[in-house]
Amino acid sequence: MNYKKNCMNYWFPKLVEIGVPTPKTVMIDMDRVSTKFVEGMREMFWMRELNEEQIKALVTFRKILEEMGHRIGYPFFLRTGQTSYKHEWSKSCFVQNQALLMKHAQTIAEYSIMAALKGGLPINVWAVRKIIETEPIFEAFLGQMPITKEMRYFFKDHEILCSHPYWPEHALEGHVHKDKDWKEKLSGLNTLLDEDAALLKKLTEKVALRFDGYWSLDWLKGKDGQWYAIDMATGDDSYHWQGCPNRKEKNMGSRNKPRRQKKKKKKEKKKKEKK
Ligand SMILES: Nc1ncnc2c1ncn2[C@@H]1O[C@H](COP(=O)(O)OP(=O)(O)O)[C@@H](O)[C@H]1O
Ligand SMILES: [Mg+2]
Repeated sequence: MNYKKNCMNYWFPKLVEIGVPTPKTVMIDMDRVSTKFVEGMREMFWMRELNEEQIKALVTFRKILEEMGHRIGYPFFLRTGQTSYKHEWSKSCFVQNQALLMKHAQTIAEYSIMAALKGGLPINVWAVRKIIETEPIFEAFLGQMPITKEMRYFFKDHEILCSHPYWPEHALEGHVHKDKDWKEKLSGLNTLLDEDAALLKKLTEKVALRFDGYWSLDWLKGKDGQWYAIDMATGDDSYHWQGCPNRKEKNMGSRNKPRRQKKKKKKEKKKKEKK
């Protein structure tokens, strides 16, 4: 996992410089404010006693995050440099008001600390973003995440490789709330108008010119018809559409998968091994 390049503080300032549409965003790297913040969050998670410096760092974090929220306005989108824990939407990245802000930040931090990766995901960088109004077709996962039009583009050495809808059917199977026709709706969502495809190609080419190496770039369509660049990660660390010739086995997408699903996969693997 390339934490340095996957982090928002690596790619987001570049996107702003390039000038493609992005939601208004404020970011903080807590390592620059206090070296005790990450330590304090981890200690708090394990319910160990905090020292004075760690407590001070956590209080500073709260004040900074509240200030950032005030600047963007509620509700807003909250994430770390690495993840939003989107599957828990209404309890994680979607922050309705200030009273819930710290609870949501802790939920994202907890997920990051417990991420099934060596040492967990870094939690030093935090971003508060303006919510892009969208037209969701249904809600999914425990957090009632709105599923809406998004596309993922892959580019390598400044050239576009391929593009895919963001949501494959198998990722939503068993997770959609109260909608019998969801598969039909999803197939409509996953079809791109020619004019949208032409626009996204042009915008992705602009971005690709300025990044070396292999990348994924996610676009989300707003209610107003505008496409926004919202997320990037190295190509090797990104889920890649099944059946695409550019997909490698390691692109199964363990980044950002709901935990329950991961466990199930492990169980299935063990069963197979036994046989
Ligand atoms: N500013 C925003 N407004 C509305 N929805 C958003 C916004 N940013 C992200 N999303 C939604 O949340 C999902 C996860 O956000 P993202 O920043 O890509 O985090 P992650 O790294 O967890 O995937 C996106 O795929 C999109 O559906
Ligand atoms: Mg994403």
